[in-house]
Amino acid sequence: MNINELKEQMKNEAGQIKNEIDLKNFSAKYKGNNGLISKLFQELKKIENKDEKKQKGKEINELKQYFEELLAEKEKFLIEKLREEELKNIDVSLPGYDIKKGKIHPITQVMEEIKSIFLRMGFSIAEGPDIEKDYYNFTALNFPHDHPARDMHDTFKINDEYLLRTHTSPIQVRVMEKQKPPLKIIAPGRVFRRDAIDASHSPVFHQVEGFMVDKNIRFSDLKGVLDLFTKEFFGRELKTRFRPSFFPFTEPSAEVDVQCVNCKGQGCSACKQTGWLEILGAGMIHPNVFRAVKYDPEKWTGFAFGMGVERIAMLKYGINDLRLFYENDLRFLKQF
Ligand code: PHE
Repeated sequence: MNINELKEQMKNEAGQIKNEIDLKNFSAKYKGNNGLISKLFQELKKIENKDEKKQKGKEINELKQYFEELLAEKEKFLIEKLREEELKNIDVSLPGYDIKKGKIHPITQVMEEIKSIFLRMGFSIAEGPDIEKDYYNFTALNFPHDHPARDMHDTFKINDEYLLRTHTSPIQVRVMEKQKPPLKIIAPGRVFRRDAIDASHSPVFHQVEGFMVDKNIRFSDLKGVLDLFTKEFFGRELKTRFRPSFFPFTEPSAEVDVQCVNCKGQGCSACKQTGWLEILGAGMIHPNVFRAVKYDPEKWTGFAFGMGVERIAMLKYGINDLRLFYENDLRFLKQF
């Protein structure tokens, strides 16, 4: 077969290429070491006449060039055809796919909101370990050894020295050991108590601790800070009230209530007709806590408070079962 006939044949074959397999077969027939074009070059070696050889060589090179062009053209054609077919199958009138978007867990959202309120008041954030020393969780906080005050918290003990912290108050001690006053700290974290799970108890929950130490910090400073916090968090129109209470690490101690978010203080089932909801514990830092961190209690005073995040989230959003936070039911989580 002469070169021109071959060219003609290539052209015909190329014209019949309809898919990728045809294209591959076409390419394999001419290209590569076993392809027809290689064979032509091999035959070329046998030609002895120089001029004839030169002429033939030029023709084969042209044929090769022609083949490459055909191949490239067909390749492009197939790609375009595929694309067109794809587009034919797209129905632009169909509704779009719903983009599944993740959300921040409500407990995290509430923690962030609490933090941001205190950050705006000039507080800084500190953290401490979940696995805590008995010393920081109890002893340094003025819980005497074998004192019934320790029973206030049903503790997961690890050994004689370590336990899972039952509150975020040990962070007070850790911060004060390392830093000198003035201090204005907020300390969020997970806490653990040996409680059976029910609508208002969980063995793991979250607290945000806060404390301030300086010269001349008074109970009225505590009231001012917490009143501002509750107004920001629950609503401007709601009042706070302080009731006397007891914690080993504060004296005097108080429990703080906010007017019921639901009935605005009128009395309803959410506040058991009292008009008030208890939201946190607080007080003036006990001199013994200052002594434990080698602060002079004659020189420094301070207040501290601690709140349960799940609890105040429930009060704010009117959630009546704590377990909803941990079940990860999307119908619940989607609402936040
Ligand atoms: N740590 C206390 C608790 O877990 C709350 C608290 C913190 C009370 C700081 C007073 C001062 O219940």
